Amino acid sequence: MTLQELTAHITAEFQKTYGRAPSYIAAAPGRVNVIGEHTDYNDGFVLPMAIEFYTIMAADKRPDGAGIITFRSTSQPDAATIDLSQPVKPSTPKWGNYPRGVVAGFLARGINPGGLDVLLHSTVPLGSGLSSSAALEVCTATLIEAVTGQTIDPIEKALLAQKAEHDFANVPCGIMDQFISALGREGHLLLLDCRTRKTELVPMNDPAVALLIINTNVKHELSGGEYAERRAQCEEAARNLGVKSLRDVTAEQLEANKGKLSELVYRRARHVIGEITRTPQAAKEIRTSNWTAAGQLMYASHAALRDDYEVSCKELDAVVEIAEGIGNTGGIYGCRMTGGGFGGCCVALVKAVEIKSIAKQIEAAYKIKTGIAATVFSSRPAAGATIIKG
Ligand code: GLA
Repeated sequence: MTLQELTAHITAEFQKTYGRAPSYIAAAPGRVNVIGEHTDYNDGFVLPMAIEFYTIMAADKRPDGAGIITFRSTSQPDAATIDLSQPVKPSTPKWGNYPRGVVAGFLARGINPGGLDVLLHSTVPLGSGLSSSAALEVCTATLIEAVTGQTIDPIEKALLAQKAEHDFANVPCGIMDQFISALGREGHLLLLDCRTRKTELVPMNDPAVALLIINTNVKHELSGGEYAERRAQCEEAARNLGVKSLRDVTAEQLEANKGKLSELVYRRARHVIGEITRTPQAAKEIRTSNWTAAGQLMYASHAALRDDYEVSCKELDAVVEIAEGIGNTGGIYGCRMTGGGFGGCCVALVKAVEIKSIAKQIEAAYKIKTGIAATVFSSRPAAGATIIKG
């Protein structure tokens, strides 16, 4: 559904749910990360793009004026409520903790949206590594901006949303997902330096190429502990190497100081340091339409995530092997897992004219290899969060 179709859909659903029209509508996109994985919490570079899949929220002030926010979702049976007269804390249903955390962030800044009836709908596949949770957080934040008329700086909004995820969903995520959902630009990838928070738009609108997203339909769960463990291993590496973060270490320095790290922590660091170098390099290759070189960097990224960082899984590896088999001659320049890992999606850089045939080939080969049906789709780079009404 386009954003326009989604707006019509949420307006009609809001009317059905609450018996009146919404006064405010906001949307925020999911994302796919082209390269720069598990680098954001190491002060490194990331290169994501916002995708044409969104969380959209419609809202209206409560007719009875009570200080209660009710969040309903078109896909969830239970509503999540916030009583604004009490301190906001994590509660049930669990999905409600993302909007709860964001509301808490606004209240802490002295911005109170007052009682609201809210309905949300999302086309971002859940648990697929496409940042459905960041889209939900950033959408909530944008809705509150619409309701209160108080907009906050988009970087501050991304940080507020990240804090909601840390404090209310217990995931010690980096800044990439919330950042791209808040700051994405149509037709562009965003090269983000997670240390300085400086961004650079990288045009990605050459009609000759497209990005294909292949959902393995194996769910990932970031709060499973693996993510926090990887983060801790990176911190251990930085500590033992005597630096603030792995951003401060070159590949040569890592090799020279290998003895200071356990074999496992060394491999984790090797991925991160390699990936921090590959990411701006890939941005450069994309800027100059050097697709083969960009694709090679994507394959290298996947190999490091699989072998050194160990966050891939057999289904993600199967997709990348299939892509390698099709190869440049078949129209695939590169392919890698995207997002946190342990399931979810791969992203492939492909020749636009071959897109349909490539999708079919991947679907067929993946079904044979794994017995699972993949979902394959493409997206152009979309714009970040927007206020649609209000
Ligand atoms: C998740 C986190 C991000 C980032 C990626 C891995 O999506 O939310 O902050 O760390 O994993 O690159």
